[in-house]
Amino acid sequence: MKGLKTVYICSECQHVSPKWLGKCPACGAWNSLVEDVVGEDKKSPTTARHALTARPTGRATPYKELDMPSYIRTATGLGELDRVLGGGLVLGSVVLLSGEPGIGKSTLLMQISDILGAHRQVLYISGEESSGQLRLRAERLGVVGENLSILTETNIEKILAEIDRAKPDVVIVDSIQTVYSENIASTAGAVTQVRESALALINKAKSDNISVILVGHVNKEGSIAGPKLLEHMVDAVLYFEGERQQTYRIIRAIKNRYGSTNEIGVFEMTDEGLAEVQNPSEMLLAGRPQNTPGNCAVCTMEGTRPLIAEIQALVSPTATPAPRRTSNGIDYNRLCLILAVLEKRLGLRFSANDVYINVIGGLRLDEPASDVAVAMALVSSLTDRAVPDDLIAIGELGLSGECRAVSGLEYRVKEAARLGFGRAVVPYRNLEKRELHADIEIIPIKSIFDVLTLLAPPQK
Ligand code: TYD
Ligand code: MG
Repeated sequence: MKGLKTVYICSECQHVSPKWLGKCPACGAWNSLVEDVVGEDKKSPTTARHALTARPTGRATPYKELDMPSYIRTATGLGELDRVLGGGLVLGSVVLLSGEPGIGKSTLLMQISDILGAHRQVLYISGEESSGQLRLRAERLGVVGENLSILTETNIEKILAEIDRAKPDVVIVDSIQTVYSENIASTAGAVTQVRESALALINKAKSDNISVILVGHVNKEGSIAGPKLLEHMVDAVLYFEGERQQTYRIIRAIKNRYGSTNEIGVFEMTDEGLAEVQNPSEMLLAGRPQNTPGNCAVCTMEGTRPLIAEIQALVSPTATPAPRRTSNGIDYNRLCLILAVLEKRLGLRFSANDVYINVIGGLRLDEPASDVAVAMALVSSLTDRAVPDDLIAIGELGLSGECRAVSGLEYRVKEAARLGFGRAVVPYRNLEKRELHADIEIIPIKSIFDVLTLLAPPQK
């Protein structure tokens, strides 16, 4: 088309290049350049415009004269979501909800639209589904639809006009990648389009004090397709995770200007939509195999909440010189480190074996406090000696095989006792300064050596 030209924009840093390159020369990211079409008259698609939460004043204010902000929050009605948001949806804030297709984003948003509609005007904008499809889903979810309006539109100018007309308190855009502006040459979903549409919606949210939730698609690598810049622009970024084959869903905040990012919300996908799981540990432990080598229970802290999960390891002999290490739910490097500690300190031959590790329920264990449980699951599978079913392991491993103290031990042990565990392996160091009160037998350990005697006799 005349007056248009093709450029390549880095989705990580927005660098513009006239030709495609495998590696972005500005930020060094690989495979991040995506094609975009811009008008000839513009050198770059946009100048560096940012959505500012702050109103520029041009003059510095003494710290002591700063006002304490007061946020107005509306509970979404789903306690698990409110927990992640830091207590509810903040008026005038923009939240990006991202997740893989089919994970349940539209379902969740339709459910909260209905609940929010009891007190607020909600406008649900869909660029992906027809109103008929939306109605069908809503019907299935038992939506009443008080104060809820549906708009199927993808043109940002028309969307803004409708927001001006309908004056909603909450706007949901499903998804931001379908929204486009007539004033920009590239197609919907292109970096420029996504960024400019998001910018327009963010500015609208700030100027009219509207809460906006944007749905963002995730690409294969797990990052939000389109500009990474979107994450910088919005107030909160929530990730909706889970295995589609399983019913659990976890919402995690990876950024939140109005609350902590530690909390997670747990849901279960049912026939009537997403149901909150107030007792996730029970769900995660359901159907646990009994007396089976390779399994070990662990307690992780997700924000203020202790969560009990199960780690499964499979260690099997391999003939290849480079054995496989596959990790699901645990950082790969952490797994390698634990394997190296076990090999060096306990003399166990993991290097002659393939190692697979998995955390049940699609949970991700980022905390080093799960090290001892990972190590026990690995040793258990290698030696065919089961970790007793009534035992839970808590502790971080040091490079010398020593067991290091963890935070929140009391909460962890209490949760284990509540779920019927009889014994807890805990770091000895935690007990040096403080006594631990719990209805569970405490087994303090100083190093990974100490756990070997706890395993059941070999099964073979
Ligand atoms: P959806 O919310 O459309 O996912 P997303 O918007 O993230 O792409 O739906 C996800 C899946 O959930 C869909 O495959 C069907 C299933 N589902 C249920 O199991 N129960 C329900 O009540 C609904 C509405 C959907
Ligand atoms: Mg959807």
